[in-house]
Amino acid sequence: MAIIVGGVGTTHVPAIGKAIAEKKHDDPYWKPFFKGFDYVHYWLARTKPDVAVVFYNDHGLNFFLDKLPTFAVGAAQEYRSEDEGWGIPVSRSIPGDLALSWHLINALVADEFDVTMCQDMLIDHAVTIPMALMWPGPSWPVKIVPIEINTVQHPLPTLGRCLKLGRSIGRALESYEQNVRVVVVGTGGLSHQLDGTRAGFINKEFDALCLEKIVAEPEALTRYSIHDWVEQSGSQGVEFLNWMAMRGALTGSVSELNRNYHIPISNTAAATVVYDNKKEAERKAA
Ligand code: DHB
Ligand code: FE
Repeated sequence: MAIIVGGVGTTHVPAIGKAIAEKKHDDPYWKPFFKGFDYVHYWLARTKPDVAVVFYNDHGLNFFLDKLPTFAVGAAQEYRSEDEGWGIPVSRSIPGDLALSWHLINALVADEFDVTMCQDMLIDHAVTIPMALMWPGPSWPVKIVPIEINTVQHPLPTLGRCLKLGRSIGRALESYEQNVRVVVVGTGGLSHQLDGTRAGFINKEFDALCLEKIVAEPEALTRYSIHDWVEQSGSQGVEFLNWMAMRGALTGSVSELNRNYHIPISNTAAATVVYDNKKEAERKAA
């Protein structure tokens, strides 16, 4: 059985890639953001996951507006990145976990999530930036299963649907016969809007509410429609769908181990969280 060690939520702003390449970690602009990862590094070194299941949204590198699956699961041996035009170095490739990918795809389809399966899939900054933030060293010690959620071309899936997708993944991980340790990651958000008359929009109060509710009462967030979400969180704030799926995949009792919230990184309210996923038995033994 796979062990779900917990969840990580993080922004994926591309400018972070440039800051990493230029070693700006201690610059006054960047320091409060990068400091938020000290706990993440400590926690990953302790929990030692073998695989990261990463919920993210593709921004036009692998999919485009002509063909955009609502949910797509990677089933590749390796995931490459390419130049997206942000002026950041192209990331190293990341090995996939083929056996786990196919297990998840089989379980999702059996559970009536008819996902697109991708045996060849480019991953963009929404995967590579979180990887570089979580594991800042010269190599990444995990394989990945990338799971794309459409946050780009309306109609988008609802918050409730993404929570259910995550729950289905959580159940599938629990029925996996191999002994692997899994960290579940949700990337993007929180509030931001890159275009239109509200470009630069950030909503600190709404972000605080989301960070509060997602831990113990994620259902409370499902009452918001996607249009409510755009109004409250900005047109790219809907990347929170990735966080909802991450939260859904945590099957035990969930608590927030760490939170950093910093405004702004580029145009975005940057939140970094670590969620524990304790099984009742472990909790009682602790
Ligand atoms: C920014 C944020 C994003 O989520 C993204 O995908 C690209 C850019 C930004 O704030 O610059
Ligand atoms: Fe984004």
